Amino acid sequence: MNWDDESVPTTADRLVGAAADGEDQAVEAALRPKALEEFVGQERVREQLDLVLKAARRRGGTADHVLLSGAPGLGKTTLSMIIAAEMGAPIRITSGPAIQHAGDLAAILSSLAEGEVLFLDEIHRMSRPAEEMLYMAMEDFRVDVIVGKGPGATAIPLELPPFTLVGATTRAGLLPPPLRDRFGFTGHMEFYAPAELERVIHRSARLLDVDIESEGAAEIAGRSRGTPRIANRLLRRVRDFAQVKADGVITREVAERALEVYEVDGRGLDRLDRAVLRALLGLFGGGPVGLSTLAVAVGEERETVEEVAEPFLVREGLLARTPRGRVATPAAWAHLGLVPPQGGGPGQDGLFGP
Ligand SMILES: Nc1ncnc2c1ncn2[C@@H]1O[C@H](COP(=O)(O)OP(=O)(O)OP(=O)(O)O)[C@@H](O)[C@H]1O
Ligand SMILES: [Mg+2]
Repeated sequence: MNWDDESVPTTADRLVGAAADGEDQAVEAALRPKALEEFVGQERVREQLDLVLKAARRRGGTADHVLLSGAPGLGKTTLSMIIAAEMGAPIRITSGPAIQHAGDLAAILSSLAEGEVLFLDEIHRMSRPAEEMLYMAMEDFRVDVIVGKGPGATAIPLELPPFTLVGATTRAGLLPPPLRDRFGFTGHMEFYAPAELERVIHRSARLLDVDIESEGAAEIAGRSRGTPRIANRLLRRVRDFAQVKADGVITREVAERALEVYEVDGRGLDRLDRAVLRALLGLFGGGPVGLSTLAVAVGEERETVEEVAEPFLVREGLLARTPRGRVATPAAWAHLGLVPPQGGGPGQDGLFGP
């Protein structure tokens, strides 16, 4: 599937994070695979990374810089921690938005230990001066620290110990080419197949000491939007339901009933997704309608609709973004059990055939 930058959610991820309470965050950390072997799916990235790390270990050196790109919740942070663990190296974690000034970055870089892994999350959101400092640090393991201001300022070169930068981004397309090119290896994370998510769910259930039947796991996997973080979250909510309303075992029926309570439908759409589709179909005859109008109709911010609901709806082939506005596809009508107006609807202009 072509996952272009425009459709990559960013705030979705933050919202997902914000929705998790403290206990959930602790559980999420506990569920992270700690070794490459435990990491489910992403066969290609895993195999390539395995080679990079093994070769570095054999040379007794530091691994090349690694860039991980992909949608929220697919395992970028997890993989960065695995890289450090596999190299037997400590890891320092920071993020693009946390580095406001080049000086912030210089302070971090100059305190790194030899072989340390520096994880830079949301690397596309770093400031320009910091980015330029990073170029030199990545290539020559050196930074110029500017001391003083104005005409009297001098650059003091500072040697850095060899380190491995692991950059993560949900939007690889936003990275300037000079930065992208300085990574020795780029791994692009894909959405997970349902069978892979089932494995994630079984693994997590084991760690959480939850009884789950294969059919229950399949039911949760099918509604997890190809994303392990969502699979784990739905598993925890279904577990709650199973413990309170059933005998604690997650069967298909228990999973179905639980996910109905949490308003996650058979395809993984949540309340907001369905509200957007219902407005698009019910109020605007399937579109095209502008994003702002659609947002007002569902009582949400533009950004929420655009970055939280739409990427998944587009990916599922339920909604299309056209130059004239948002348009529902025939699959959207079918999903809500509605019949499209005769002639394909007012604004569809034969977009989807006769
Ligand atoms: N391949 C995997 N196998 C098993 N569990 C996984 C895998 N990938 C991710 N997870 C689980 O999903 C959760 C989210 O993963 P992670 O935090 O690494 O995602 P991310 O790509 O860094 O997301 P974001 O872009 O939001 O930072 C983790 O807690 C982890 O338990
Ligand atoms: Mg992350």
